[in-house]
Amino acid sequence: MKKLIFLSLALSPMAASAQLLMSPSKELKAEFKLVDNGKPAYTLEYKGRPIIEQSLLGLVLEQPQTLDADFKVVRTQVATGDETWSPVLGEQSSIRNHYNELKVELLQTTTERKMNIVFRLYDEGLAFRYEFPNQYRWKYFKVTREITEFNLTGDHKAFWIPGDFDSQEYVYTESALSQINGDQSQISNGIGFKGPMEATRVQSPLMMKTNDDLYLNIFEAAVVNYPVMHLNLNPKTFTFRADLAPNAIGDLAYLETPCKLPWRTVMVSDDARDIVGSRLILNLNDPSKIDDTNWIKPMKYVGIWWEMHVGKSTWDYAGSQNAQNAQPGVLIPTGKHGATTENAKTYIDFAAKHGFDGVLIEGWNVGWEDWFGNWKEEVFDFVTPYPDFNISEVTAYAKSKNIQLIMHHETSGSVSNYERRLDRAFDHMKKYGYNAVKSGYVGRIIPRGEWHDGQIMVNHFNWVVQRAAEKKIMVNSHESSRPTGVHRTWPNYVSAEAARGNEFNAWSNGNPPAHETILPFTRLLGGPMDYTPGIFEIRMSAYEPSKKEQVQTTLAKQLALYVTMYSPIQMAADLPENYDKHADAFQFIKDVAVDWDDTKILEAEPGDYLTMARKAKAKDAWFVGAITDENARKTTISLGFLPAGKKYKAVIYEDAKDADWQKNPKAYAIRTIEVSSKSKIELALAPGGGTAISILPLK
Ligand code: NOJ
Ligand code: CA
Repeated sequence: MKKLIFLSLALSPMAASAQLLMSPSKELKAEFKLVDNGKPAYTLEYKGRPIIEQSLLGLVLEQPQTLDADFKVVRTQVATGDETWSPVLGEQSSIRNHYNELKVELLQTTTERKMNIVFRLYDEGLAFRYEFPNQYRWKYFKVTREITEFNLTGDHKAFWIPGDFDSQEYVYTESALSQINGDQSQISNGIGFKGPMEATRVQSPLMMKTNDDLYLNIFEAAVVNYPVMHLNLNPKTFTFRADLAPNAIGDLAYLETPCKLPWRTVMVSDDARDIVGSRLILNLNDPSKIDDTNWIKPMKYVGIWWEMHVGKSTWDYAGSQNAQNAQPGVLIPTGKHGATTENAKTYIDFAAKHGFDGVLIEGWNVGWEDWFGNWKEEVFDFVTPYPDFNISEVTAYAKSKNIQLIMHHETSGSVSNYERRLDRAFDHMKKYGYNAVKSGYVGRIIPRGEWHDGQIMVNHFNWVVQRAAEKKIMVNSHESSRPTGVHRTWPNYVSAEAARGNEFNAWSNGNPPAHETILPFTRLLGGPMDYTPGIFEIRMSAYEPSKKEQVQTTLAKQLALYVTMYSPIQMAADLPENYDKHADAFQFIKDVAVDWDDTKILEAEPGDYLTMARKAKAKDAWFVGAITDENARKTTISLGFLPAGKKYKAVIYEDAKDADWQKNPKAYAIRTIEVSSKSKIELALAPGGGTAISILPLK
């Protein structure tokens, strides 16, 4: 049901010295005014405490068209929005979008150019965006800097990753703002390629906590035809300025009026749960542009994937180490190729036996022998299988078992090549009945060295999703720019990686135990993440005795991640034989839902812990996930979220008493109890541990 009320009111420029806006709860107050020589500026207060001190707004265009001063207010309009809408797939089936809005229409007196700034104040935070009306004498323009400031009140604690324009696959640092050092020389993302970095630049979303226990988050929504916003700190004033990823020749953005830029957002609360549970970013995006969404389905999947990451098999049929010396056209089999017809059938059997929807097969197509490090434009054609992968046979087999295949398009960053071949690649998928694709953008963007976060690449990611929608294909992108709620508009954009996923635990210094307690406050605010949880064989020495790498959680925490790390497509990422060894724990992965009617955040503290309960969509079943960082944790949760008067069976998958992510990661225990809305459950999480609970109706 939609309910949208708009009240508008025009003010004369004389009365417009300062404009006030209140959130529906009246706890947040924003103010707009022109300062100095007509410079737009804003402030934000929460419960009477300053959050953002006077901060400038505007853009710098190619000289001499600076758009940050000499403005006068032509008109202001206020409005209220209140509607309720339903996402196709989501964390809750009904979302309220409730805000007060202030639109300030500005005229730059020296140039007669028009710029509007629209502010929306929600109970969870502020959003604002620049809009440029159609202007006869100002059709095209080039942005060389964005002025937008976030002038913070002190040296808050921040959870930051360095402002690499090319990758978000970093471990978070928890430090005071004054200690931020995003310098390239200091930090490695573990995969050996990086974009330009700067000591004072960090990525958004940026999660912070003040000394007086307020939680702040700076982010953006609806990034369309514009670069990703990073944040550059002035450590003397604790002011961040929007820092946009440039294109290959240093320009930031090319725009054509009329246009609207992405929303900049500042969330604030004294309760960390409000940040994790906020739907502000989704609400700021346009409603779905796909009319018939019946083909967009949640999915649980397994795949020929982790076995390559742990070194048991190879993506390439011929072995990339052979590529340099190989005779042209001659493939010398590695003998370890993962994506064979036979292996695909094994995974299809496993998926069918355990009730999964899909199977992902990576390394099925020609090109892997040459994919990394050579910066070649033409590597993959996305249609030619290796000789030991019979795509017709695999497709027919999957169909006979009612399993959907998930296509894999690794582009190796060669976006020009992918764009040229995309229609053929999608048609090839449809021909073999694939309705979902996992894409990948490993490495520098070929051929021009664009950054993953620049305007050109943002447009590429959005365009691929739109093209896929035309063909009824769901997309899960890896190494893309991080989502900003655009999956509300294009719900076939079912998931993305765009952060440091579980895979890093297989072959790098990995993801420290706090990592998964931070992502829901950062990356996940923009949209679902394909984190690929469910690794049971925690230590990589199981594959190769000399390996030191390990998943930095307990096994039970891997289960809890299915609840805390939202994605409507979730992978059971480990190998079938590892699940066979722990069939009792695997039951949770088989039972857990991936699409939800409701989500309750029970406990949250960024960098420390998170406990969530979610109700399965259209089913009387709840699932709880509780995770902790490197510290053990005891807590008691109340099941007050259950409907009153009903009895359920709760199966609790928890860390064994002596479990510890380093010393004893695989020790878990399972107990079953009867519960109702009046029940409380005591949880004991090991260091790096977690608890997963399925709450199912009593038979
Ligand atoms: C990185 C992706 O995150 C991973 O899932 C994939 O297996 C490799 N690239 C190869 O495409
Ligand atoms: Ca990745």
